[in-house]
Order: sequence, then structure tokens, then C-alpha cells
Amino acid sequence: MDQRLNLIGLLQLLLLATSGNGLEWTVPDVVSSIKNVGSSIIDPKLLPTPQSLLEGSKQLLVGLPFEYVSSSINYICSQALSSNKIKSKFTPDITKMNFQLRTACVRTSFPLLEAEKMWNSPSFDPTKRVVILATGWTTQVNDTETIDKMAQAYNCRGDSNFVALDAASFVDTLYSWSAFNTDEIGLHLAHGLVKLLDVVSVDKIHLIGHSLGAHIVGAAGRYMQQLTGKMVPRITGLDPAKPCFNEGETLSGLLRGDATFVDVIHSNPGVLGKRDPMGDVDFYPGGLSALPTGCITVTCAHARAWEYFEESIYPGNERNFMAIRCSSIQGLRKNKCVGDDYPMGIAAPPSLKGNYFLDINAAKPYGKLSSSQRSARLLNCGECA
Ligand SMILES: *[C@@H]1O[C@H](CO)[C@@H](O)[C@H](O)[C@H]1NC(C)=O
Repeated sequence: MDQRLNLIGLLQLLLLATSGNGLEWTVPDVVSSIKNVGSSIIDPKLLPTPQSLLEGSKQLLVGLPFEYVSSSINYICSQALSSNKIKSKFTPDITKMNFQLRTACVRTSFPLLEAEKMWNSPSFDPTKRVVILATGWTTQVNDTETIDKMAQAYNCRGDSNFVALDAASFVDTLYSWSAFNTDEIGLHLAHGLVKLLDVVSVDKIHLIGHSLGAHIVGAAGRYMQQLTGKMVPRITGLDPAKPCFNEGETLSGLLRGDATFVDVIHSNPGVLGKRDPMGDVDFYPGGLSALPTGCITVTCAHARAWEYFEESIYPGNERNFMAIRCSSIQGLRKNKCVGDDYPMGIAAPPSLKGNYFLDINAAKPYGKLSSSQRSARLLNCGECA
């Protein structure tokens, strides 16, 4: 019963997006029957938030039913988008969006359109690189574990200025609206980057995005090329969101070519995250199974991508996750994959191409080559002393 409620809730997101547009769908029967149940409740206030849906999905022990629903939603969403009748309900407003520069102790916000002012901030070190992180779904910039942990890791490492994209509430609305907004937010981010390029050389910039954020930074990379002719050297996609993002559809999302080097970590392939390779290099830790070892929920799996990357940022951890080019995790485990191993995460070499597989631990530290002594030593590194 709980499971069915989740399915209805998820479909309601799409129903809200498509209601009243006279769209003709051809969807599996099971989906249309759920649609009929769902369509009697159209009060937007009754709709679950993406967060509550994700919380609800914790009750699902196996990824498979969810995987099927996810695919159905993906299909409906793509149909809705390609009809060109759907407009985002909340248009992202660039004047409400900020870069938030984070040192261990200080958080300073700069409007995207005044990004060049970051240069004059005492918190900004012009000799260092600039890492910009965009997240998905829950993007209260001051209340997001992903941002906090990644900021701490980079502040421990000490070689980069860490900046979070504060997309105001424009990613924190219903998933479908959020998905429709990613392109426009990406364009706004690109305008912010153009301002930043007044003071920072492009080769110092690294864009990282988790979930919907991966598609936002991908769009930013594309638009920046249009606006300046310059390419960001690296974009990292951490379990790029799957629902609504299809190959060749209106929203194609992050793709190789958006930066000189696009590296992607897939941790919930086929459910909340995309399964198909899209980067120059695509890492599949634990293989193509929707739930990596140690996870019994899709939210846990979706978060793993940034947790792996975060672990690799800490000094000494760069080679915790060694991966081999392969076509399956089974092949890897049977030693059928030949070739050198290369690090997944911060130290992924920009020349890497193809699909790479590796095994991971069920609990922290996740890297097969991690050291619990080193992890213990680094526990408070990067925190405000
Ligand atoms: C986040 O926190 C900083 C101070 O730590 C504050 O200046 C800023 O306004 C906060 N941003 C939001 C969106 O609440």
C-alpha cells in the first residue's frame, strides 16, 4: 500500500505538469490506471514534495519496482516536454541567485551578476582554483549536507576556493518544475561565470553538479561556450538525475562536450540517476545495480556519488577508488578486464575515456584502498577550528 501511494505521488507530479494540456499519452496500462486514481486529486497543496517522495521511497527495499516507475515517469515527462506546451511555473530569477563562497569559518554570498566582486573578498584566494558546486532538489544553501561536506573536504584540501551555487528556491520546488528550470538556471550560472572570468582564468574553474545540479552545470558549460567561446576544463557529474532527461529529447542534460573533460559517477543507475554513459569517462562503482552495497534505499544510492567524490578530495585519499575499463562489474570480478587502473574522483585523469568499473565498501570509508587510520586523522580537517 505504501508502495502504491508512492507511485501515485510520483505520477501526480507529472499530472500536475501536464494537466489541461490535452496531451495524448501512450503509456503502460498500469501507469494509466494509477493516473486515473491520481487525477482526482489535483490540489497542488496536496502534492508531495520531491523530498517527501524520496523519504517515502525508503520504504522500498528493492530498486526494481521503483526502477519501472521511474522509467514510466521519464517517458511521460519526455512526452510532456516534447509537446512544448509545458512552461515552468516558477521562472528562475537571476537576481535572486548567488554564489556562496565558503571557507572553513566564513560564508559570503555574491549575486551571480556581481560574481567578479568575489575577487576582492578576504575569503577568496586568487592563486587557487575555483570549484563551483550545484546540487539538486534540496538546495537551501545553508542547510544542505552535500554542500557542507563537500565544502569541508575542499577546505581541508586547501587548494581551491569552494563556491556553492545558491539557486534560491528554484530547484526546491516540485521535481518536474525543477527539471524544466535546469536549462535556464544553467544559463544564469553561465552569466555568473562570465562575470567571474573578468578576474579568474577559465582554466582554474571546475564545475561539479549532483543530481539535477549535474544538468545545471552541463547547461552552464554549454552556454558559456556560446557566450565567450571558452570551454570549462572540467565538469563532474555526480549521479546526474534521470527523470525527465532523455537522450535526444528537449532536456538532454549533461553531455560530453559541455567541458573539455566530463567525468561522471553513476551511483543509482536507472532510478534517480541516469544509467547511460554521458561523459568522457563514466564510473560505475558497484556496477549497474541500482543499489550499491550497503544501501537499501534509492536515496542512499543517489547520495553515494557525492560521498565517494567527497572522500577522494581529502589529502591522501585521491587513489582510494581505483577503477578499470570494463563492460561489466562481473567481468571485473572475474579478472576479465585488462588495462591499467585509474582513480575515480578528484584525481581522475583528464585523458580518460570510456566506462570504468570498481568495487566499493558498504560503509565509510567507501574506497577499497582507503585507510581507516587516515580517515580518523582527517575527521575534523576543514572544519572551523
Ligand atoms: C546563509 O548564511 C549566511 C551566513 O552564514 C548568510 O549571510 C546568508 O544570508 C544565508 N543565506 C540564506 C539563503 O539563508
